[in-house]
Amino acid sequence: MSKETSLGRRLVLRASAILPLALCARAAGAVTGPVPLAGEMDPLTAILTRRSVRSYTNRPVSEETLRAVLRAGMSAPSAGNEQPWVCVIIRDKAALAKAGEINPYAKFAVQAPLAVLVCGDTTLDRTGGFWPLDCAACTQNMLLAAHALGLGAVWTGIWPLPERMEGFRTLAGLPSFIVPLALVVMGYPAEHPGPEDRFKAERIHQGRWQERGADGEPEPGR
Ligand SMILES: Cc1cc2nc3c(=O)[nH]c(=O)nc-3n(C[C@H](O)[C@H](O)[C@H](O)COP(=O)(O)O)c2cc1C
Repeated sequence: MSKETSLGRRLVLRASAILPLALCARAAGAVTGPVPLAGEMDPLTAILTRRSVRSYTNRPVSEETLRAVLRAGMSAPSAGNEQPWVCVIIRDKAALAKAGEINPYAKFAVQAPLAVLVCGDTTLDRTGGFWPLDCAACTQNMLLAAHALGLGAVWTGIWPLPERMEGFRTLAGLPSFIVPLALVVMGYPAEHPGPEDRFKAERIHQGRWQERGADGEPEPGR
């Protein structure tokens, strides 16, 4: 078995073995506490502690680690299981700097060892336009895997802004049927933003839409 296959399998096995335990712990309210070491993180902890990281150390990202992140991305659900994603790996500093010119909110990309340009192959989308959702799921899987492996990453937005899409099309030399969706900038983190609990009970409606009072509670009789 290759090293890369072995890492992918270890992650899948580890995740499936510990998920039931993690769910019990979370159900009991154990959401806080120190973040486990990279590679020892259960899926729910990864979801609850992931934050965008925009500052990176000089430590290079190995091909094996990058491949594990990409494998997680490509494990995402997709409409009709079409898997319409295509990834362009960008390591060139001039290209990373250019990314920060195309998207002014990605200026930090030039400090990163690499970025993954997540694109949709529109020729693979035969279910009526779901490709951006499929590629968004792929992108989020990559962010979570990167975090679980001790990397820091951030989704920088491209689709649906025409000028950014055109900029990245030119930067990466994409053919017309490949549409850039997001640039995931990643590296080993030089900042460690803490988890945020964003749970909002008032965003949940039971059975059907419930009007809310000023206190956010459902109004009686409605
Ligand atoms: C569609 C999308 C586009 C985003 N674009 C950018 C971006 O261009 N630059 C950036 O620094 N962060 C970007 N972000 C990251 C958000 O700012 C970040 O997810 C949000 O502030 C919540 O913080 P967190 O990721 O640390 O939980 C984007 C996120 C999404 C989902």
